[in-house]
Amino acid sequence: MSDFTSEFWNFYVIGIVVLSLLACLILLWSQGSVTYTAGKTTGHAWDEDLEEYNNPMPKWWSLLFYLTVVFSVVYLFFFPGLGKYQGYLNWSSAKYSLGADGTVANQAGSKYQSEVDTVNRKLEPTLNRYLALDIPTLAKDPKAMEMGQRLFQSYCIQCHGSDAKGSKGFPNLTNDDWQWGGEPEQIEATIAGGRTAAMTPHTDMSDETVKDIANYVLSLSGESSDSERIARGEAAFRNSDCLTCHDPGIMTGQPTGVPSGNILMGAPNLTDKVWLYSRNPEVVADTIKNGRNNQMPGWEGFLGKGKVHLLAAYVYSQSHK
Ligand code: HEC
Ligand code: HEC
Repeated sequence: MSDFTSEFWNFYVIGIVVLSLLACLILLWSQGSVTYTAGKTTGHAWDEDLEEYNNPMPKWWSLLFYLTVVFSVVYLFFFPGLGKYQGYLNWSSAKYSLGADGTVANQAGSKYQSEVDTVNRKLEPTLNRYLALDIPTLAKDPKAMEMGQRLFQSYCIQCHGSDAKGSKGFPNLTNDDWQWGGEPEQIEATIAGGRTAAMTPHTDMSDETVKDIANYVLSLSGESSDSERIARGEAAFRNSDCLTCHDPGIMTGQPTGVPSGNILMGAPNLTDKVWLYSRNPEVVADTIKNGRNNQMPGWEGFLGKGKVHLLAAYVYSQSHK
């Protein structure tokens, strides 16, 4: 709150807060002190005969409202909210706290950071114990999985969904189809360091060829039966660079000729019924023509090894039920 350029803003904020609270109280009090006559209406009528009774607010409702005002007063005593007043607890979310004279007293750590550090220090022994266990074992520990689930709910659901089943562009983590590998170490490496997919665009291909290839790819999972397009598409597919990424054997020098996915490139299996984007022919064609660059962020720097290990076990448990 030291950012105020003049005392005016300090009193301005205090004034608005106090006046709002007073206004709430006056409103409540005035409503409570009106005398009501049973059966009397306000005189308003809608739809010809729908009349509004002039009854008092329910008691529980007024009481709740009074309680929120009491809560505000207590809150404003302990925490910042009234202009420059720091609050009795001297709490601050900023990177510094102010001394009595209003200058920066502690630039090293904020209250928030020190609270985070305290919790992390408390967690350390537990996390170290978990870190010593391998992922399949950890995945069977109910206590650990409870914690893993909470971490997942905090950091992962915005992309993968609260059920970990993903959505368009965000993979389902509960099945046995893995873009980057489903072995415990592979899952852990994905979460720790993140992954960047690079499906190259094929903008020089004609729209017709792209459509042919899309039909061939769809036919691999029984989604197209346009035999002419499929035949032309397969030839174009084999002529193009698709198998350099989608063939699982390419890196080991033993190409299979089947695009059943390549975890070293993060290239999905094109022969199964699981779609990262969609089986809609137009979306498949769009992927082929314009490429895709999906990114999974890395978490080790932010969460540390222990929590990443726990998350890997949680993801593993979701796909090994
Ligand atoms: C900002 C969105 C986002 C967040 C947040 C996110 N992910 Fe992901 N995640 C992705 C995307 C996108 C992919 C697919 C990357 C690709 O296409 O190569 C992915 C892929 C993965 C994979 C690999 C799946 C496979 O088939 O190989 C795992 C495992 C994973 N995420 C776990 C997590 C966990 C655990 C968290 C929480 C710590 C998390 N993700 C948070 C976007 C996200
Ligand atoms: C440079 C490597 C590379 C090449 C070459 C490549 N792909 Fe891909 N492909 C990928 C990667 C990686 C992904 C995943 C993209 C993502 O996660 O965003 C992908 C995704 C796809 C998808 C989406 C699958 C789904 O589940 O939604 C299709 C379809 C596809 N590729 C077809 C092709 C075809 C057809 C060709 C040849 C014309 C081709 N790819 C060439 C790497 C490649």
